[in-house]
Amino acid sequence: MDASRIFSVGDARRRASRAVPRALFDYIDGGAEDEVTMRENARAFEEVTFRPRMGVSTEDPRTSTTLLGTPLSMPVILAPCGLVRFMHPDGAPGVARAAAAQGTVSVLSTVAGTSLEDVAAASPGPNWFQLYAPGGAPQGEQLVERAQRAGYTGLVVTLDTPALGHRERDVRHGVAQPFRFTAGSASRLAAQFAVRPRWLAGTVRDVITSRRAHAAAAGKGQETPTARLVAMGASPFSWDDVSTIRRQWSGLLAVKGILCADDARRAVDSGVDIVIVSNHGGRQLDGAPATLRVLPRIVDALGDTAPVVLDSGVRRGSDVIKAVAAGAAAVMIGRAYLYGLAACGEPGVRRILEILRSEMVRTLGLMGCPSVSDLDRSWLELPGPSR
Ligand SMILES: Cc1cc2nc3c(=O)[nH]c(=O)nc-3n(C[C@H](O)[C@H](O)[C@H](O)COP(=O)(O)O)c2cc1C
Repeated sequence: MDASRIFSVGDARRRASRAVPRALFDYIDGGAEDEVTMRENARAFEEVTFRPRMGVSTEDPRTSTTLLGTPLSMPVILAPCGLVRFMHPDGAPGVARAAAAQGTVSVLSTVAGTSLEDVAAASPGPNWFQLYAPGGAPQGEQLVERAQRAGYTGLVVTLDTPALGHRERDVRHGVAQPFRFTAGSASRLAAQFAVRPRWLAGTVRDVITSRRAHAAAAGKGQETPTARLVAMGASPFSWDDVSTIRRQWSGLLAVKGILCADDARRAVDSGVDIVIVSNHGGRQLDGAPATLRVLPRIVDALGDTAPVVLDSGVRRGSDVIKAVAAGAAAVMIGRAYLYGLAACGEPGVRRILEILRSEMVRTLGLMGCPSVSDLDRSWLELPGPSR
């Protein structure tokens, strides 16, 4: 499919639903239990409106920024997502290359499906790595050491997965939790695979290639196959673990999954550089608050001590502008780029980033705001009693 025929994240979502088997689309698209938090993320963005200024000429508004020394062409980072290899054979290397081509950063998930060394080799970076350690501290230490050696400049520790969210769409498809295609589920899913022959051919080819690569990497003691990591499931971390990781990791350290000011302060006290306000896109605790609603309190609590990144629910460039005006240093996107990837691989991810950037430029122009660095809450009409 030609990526230039995608005009919005919503378009990419529709294309993705036609490109991959239903169970895989639902794995990307779905949330936990009743998907209340997932819908709340979207509603929170809808409820915030702009306070535009008229009579101001803003030719070519600027979207570039820096996040603790990392230059970004726009305040949009690609969130870590598992199993991207199954969404399109371009997988994690394609995502990382697309991010680099658009002047931003992608965060490689521990369970993306490609070794962190291969992704680092495939993309000029900067690359960040997301840590799950379902096998406990020794496994975490080993992954951190590998990420450091491979040249990753940022480490994101995901704190919101002490247990696995219950994604009922996956369960209904007969897919094991944590998500994986087992022999049993594969036979139930055969009909879905059969109507996606292009996806199937690409995936079969890729599985064969990756088996060979795994065997070679295992020989070098380098690789824990994604399947084994995914099957381990939940990844609990304590604040002591975060402090230990801080001592081991010399690059930028972020924690992901923070939803209240106390935890944000605790993160900074543990030596964390960046706080990521996230509810995992509504895929973990259903009933967790929308991130845009809790963001201002967390930003105010931290003041200048650490930048805050908002994750969950971003689908438009205007959403990025709202989050930055509310106090975020940048946002992370998950499904927005996964839809592009599933629809047409690396060019699809690049296209989504282009679309978000042009939406940001247009929004800033219409607001009369010259640059993302000029945004603050005075540009927003926030809902509820005057905040
Ligand atoms: C299919 C999928 C897989 C994900 N896998 C991971 C993961 O491996 N590690 C992680 O920290 N977050 C993971 N996430 C959560 C994302 O990093 C991010 O928090 C979420 O997608 C943001 O919400 P959004 O999709 O509404 O942008 C995953 C999200 C999706 C949609």
